[in-house]
Amino acid sequence: MAEVRLKQLVKRYDKQEIIKGIDLHVQDGEFVVLVGPSGCGKSTTLRMIAGLEDINAGTIEIAGRAVNDLQPHLRNIAMVFQNYALYPHKTVKDNILFGLRKSKVSRAVMDDRLKQVATMLQLEELLNRKPADLSGGQRQRVAMGRALVRDADVFLFDEPLSNLDAKLRHHMRTEIARIHQNLKTTFIYVTHDQVEAMTLGDRVVVMWDGEIEQMGTPMDIYLNPVNTFVATFIGSPSMNLIPATYRESNGMIVMADLELPMELLPGVHTANLKDKQALYVGIRPDFFEDVHYASELEAYWKLPERTIELIEPLGFDKEVSFSIGDQFVKARLDLRSDLQAGNALGLAVNPERILVFDRDNGMRVN
Ligand SMILES: Nc1ncnc2c1ncn2[C@@H]1O[C@H](COP(=O)(O)OP(=O)(O)OP(=O)(O)O)[C@@H](O)[C@H]1O
Ligand SMILES: [Mg+2]
Repeated sequence: MAEVRLKQLVKRYDKQEIIKGIDLHVQDGEFVVLVGPSGCGKSTTLRMIAGLEDINAGTIEIAGRAVNDLQPHLRNIAMVFQNYALYPHKTVKDNILFGLRKSKVSRAVMDDRLKQVATMLQLEELLNRKPADLSGGQRQRVAMGRALVRDADVFLFDEPLSNLDAKLRHHMRTEIARIHQNLKTTFIYVTHDQVEAMTLGDRVVVMWDGEIEQMGTPMDIYLNPVNTFVATFIGSPSMNLIPATYRESNGMIVMADLELPMELLPGVHTANLKDKQALYVGIRPDFFEDVHYASELEAYWKLPERTIELIEPLGFDKEVSFSIGDQFVKARLDLRSDLQAGNALGLAVNPERILVFDRDNGMRVN
């Protein structure tokens, strides 16, 4: 068990700064997920923690001691890679034990750990098979077993599920959550899949272009994104960002033909806004409600009626599209709403769920 601290961590390739001085404190036993678009520096960060990549500035501490100059095998960490390679001529058992055999662990301890990991990953029946005779998901479990069999302080995962199909990914996600609950060891997990990040992490760290944009619980990041990048990266379908302008004379936020009274919005300080300031109004598709079922109609913002342009049924939910000015907007409504394209649509939104961003720099203003 160990906490991990990154202080002002910097990585450069040639002259280009890839990791731009990040600070991160992962608590002992915490499950932290680093998420962000391709190329933002997730793997580089993880590889620096593992000691597989030099660092150019800053400090990495594991269990309270700086490990900058410590060889990877002395850091007491185990890592699962995206492109795991199993030894094709070795059995599942030998693949799992390969790393341990090189260290000075007694046979009894080894047998004990193998049994534990095989049970945890449901590999008991497969221990004598070769990788070629396993399914993709089973191979992935073996790769994970190889890391988990080590009694490491910290486990690092670099997109371990990205090679699996959607169904298996979902299943393995649940498995990983369960494994963490059992082990209660520090997990740092990298993915570019925001659903994986939201479902697995005690805390989610959203990265972009070598920097940490925001960290927090999944719910905090979902409900309170600090800027338009985080707002649109997390959540599917993406948050609607509706271009708007602030009109000081009557305290309205104007979106094409719609007006949203500022006084409805909690936490908005009109003193922070300038007349005619360019804004985005951000509303997640999930937070639109059919006026017929809106729970607190009095307090909600009721949109003037829109025309339904498109309906995409998803089973329990459906995505309903309409326009505000030139902006295509999506609402996700449930089974109760019986709607048809071309019909009028009455929607309401809890004002606490309406976010306002500066259109120039993307930062939240409420
Ligand atoms: N050895 C290298 N030499 C030069 N540039 C590199 C090297 N390794 C990585 N980079 C660059 O560093 C940046 C971050 O790469 P990294 O692999 O950390 O991204 P990532 O967030 O893991 O992306 P992905 O989701 O695609 O795996 C990228 O722009 C990449 O091109
Ligand atoms: Mg990567």
